[in-house]
Parts: sequence; C-alpha cells; structure tokens
Amino acid sequence: MNRPLALLACVVFGGILPVLLVVLWLTEPAPAPPAPRAMPPPITLPEVPLPTGSDPASVALRQSIRNGERIYHRLCYHCHGRRGTGDNNEYMASIGHKPADHSDLRAMQKLSDDEFFMALRDGVTDDRGWLTMPPWSSVLTAAEMWDVIAYVRRLPLAPEPPRGGAQGRPGSPRP
Ligand code: HEC
Repeated sequence: MNRPLALLACVVFGGILPVLLVVLWLTEPAPAPPAPRAMPPPITLPEVPLPTGSDPASVALRQSIRNGERIYHRLCYHCHGRRGTGDNNEYMASIGHKPADHSDLRAMQKLSDDEFFMALRDGVTDDRGWLTMPPWSSVLTAAEMWDVIAYVRRLPLAPEPPRGGAQGRPGSPRP
C-alpha cells in the first residue's frame, strides 16, 4: 500500500466515518409514540329504585341512596363497575384476580353491613398482602360510607355481555 492511500484510509476511518455515524445516530427519527389504547366501553349505571314514602325514614333513606350514588360514581365504579367482574378495567386486570375474588359487585352485595363498612374504612388486602383496594377513611365520613353501602345494595347487576364479544376479557378466570 502506498503512503497517500494509507493516509486517506486513516482519515476516512479514523475521522470522517465516526463523525458520520454520530450524525446519522443523532438524526435518526424518534420512535413513533405508542398507539392510544382502546378504551373499554363506558359503564352506564342504572337508576336504582328509591323509596317513595314521605315519612321521615323514607326521606332519609332516599337522600342517603342519592348521596351514595354520587359517591359511587365519583370514586368506585372505575374499579368496580357493576357487572360482577370490575367490568374488565385495566386496574382489575393488572392485579390479576379471578372474578370471584371480591372485586365484583355481586360479592360486595353479599357482604354484611359491618364487613362492607370495614372494607371501605380500612381498605382490602389480597392473598399476597397487597392493599389492592384503598382505604377510604381519609376521604369519606362514616355517614358517607353508609350512604355508599345503601346505594350498592340496591344497584342491580348488569347482564353478562353477549358471548363472542368476551374473548380476551381480563376478568376471565385464569387456568
Ligand atoms: C383502585 C381501584 C378501586 C377503587 C377506586 C375502589 N375499589 Fe373496592 N376494591 C378494589 C379491589 C381490587 C378489591 C378487592 C381486593 C382484593 O381482594 O384484592 C376491592 C374490594 C372492595 C370491597 C370488599 C369486597 C369483598 O368481597 O370483601 C368492597 C366492599 C369495596 N371494594 C367497595 C368499594 C367502594 C364502595 C368504593 C368507592 C368508595 C371502592 N370499593 C373503590 C378496588 C377498588
């Protein structure tokens, strides 16, 4: 190899090529942002039957249910829904429970008043000891918790979704 050629090779491989590579690396387009995730269909909560009487007890219960409804819509249904499986939302999917595992409206409606109240006040831990349901005692007063309980007791379960549309439901039982 003659001298000028060797010098040229040195300049190309030692100087120009690295710079070129760096420039290429810097100008490489940023990766495309991830596609937005498909949102689950919005949950629609039905009207619950209210007591109609005008006696003080009925009036108080009516107010209590209405207030519980407001609270459930604001704080609870995102996780619990009303079908019995947390309505397949991502949070419930992420903690990997089977539908039978407490997260559902059906299970909530079977609780005694005291069990329900304690679950709300103290939160709920799962088998692994994770506090998967947050405690609400710093958010809700005791009276508000009783209002939610009154409402949830009257909330009808949603019908099961039609078969076929149910593949890949995060709430499906795991083997
Ligand atoms: C961040 C999601 C989330 C929110 C918000 C939430 N919960 Fe829960 N809740 C859970 C999970 C998860 C469980 C089940 C705990 C477990 O077993 O892992 C649970 C359990 C419960 C239980 C106990 C059920 C049983 O069978 O023991 C009740 C009652 C309950 N929730 C009511 C409510 C009410 C009422 C609200 C609104 C004030 C609410 N939750 C808000 C996630 C949530």
